[in-house]
Amino acid sequence: MTTQESGYFTEENSAEVVIARNEGAEDARLKEVMAVLIRHLHAAVKEIEPTQEEWFRAIMFLTDTGHMCNEWRQEFILLSDVLGVSMLVDAINNRKPSGASESTVLGPFHVDGAPELPLGSNICLDRKGEPMLVRGRILDTGGRPIAGARIDVWQANDEGFYDVQQKGIQPDFNLRGVFRSDASGAYWFRGVKPKFYPIPDDGPVGKLLGALGRHPYRPAHLHYIIGAEGFETLTTHIFDPDDPYIASDAVFGVKRSLMAEFVPVDDPARIAEAGFDGPFLEVEHDFVLAPAGAKAS
Ligand code: BEZ
Ligand code: FE
Repeated sequence: MTTQESGYFTEENSAEVVIARNEGAEDARLKEVMAVLIRHLHAAVKEIEPTQEEWFRAIMFLTDTGHMCNEWRQEFILLSDVLGVSMLVDAINNRKPSGASESTVLGPFHVDGAPELPLGSNICLDRKGEPMLVRGRILDTGGRPIAGARIDVWQANDEGFYDVQQKGIQPDFNLRGVFRSDASGAYWFRGVKPKFYPIPDDGPVGKLLGALGRHPYRPAHLHYIIGAEGFETLTTHIFDPDDPYIASDAVFGVKRSLMAEFVPVDDPARIAEAGFDGPFLEVEHDFVLAPAGAKAS
């Protein structure tokens, strides 16, 4: 009997028998990953003791999740998001040296090819909502400015929709832009206060959230991807700490260090300087990039 033929299947030895059957796998990583998954899956089934009907419901849930996927919709990523797995994978892959800004989920609404704009540009093309000036600096972990960093930003509008969700309603590339930090590491642009929004919840993942007594909302945020030569690329958000969903983000993306203050400004001189025609919100947030290849400390 080979190792792969290591005995007949019983309830007690189920995981070991299946793992042994994969002994001949050439890809060592695949073999390891499958062994862990099989061990944990069998342990879960033994703990849950599903009826045949319950197991069939689970299979149909995954089937429906697959059917919901198309070129624009990835229901399995949403499932991973609401189970906290996306944030866990993000955490494992983005252990930062001390002082570097923390990462969070990318989400499905990033679009390649957003226009590269001069600092100070207004990315809110339809001028709807409460105007906002966003500014800060891109720094290294020694507090030195990083000039020429590429800052890709995108955000939902004042009703909680991204441009790609409202084609024909919002202008293309509304509330998106790519900026470069100046010689002092500074960046600034104008936008509009974002609103909280539900993750796409008209599919099986939305139904699951409902059945679990959970809401589908993400607190208001701005997305960033920040890259610079010699530094790790940072994918992150900043959040409005006063948002009603700040403590219950449907995808667990909130981190304490990513809170930004949205400060009202009504001084006429500051309004004129910022290029607005009335009161606005000022949001200041610096980002610290980790050196390329740096390990957590
Ligand atoms: C987002 O912030 O764009 C997002 C993240 C995860 C799931 C859905 C949306
Ligand atoms: Fe988002």
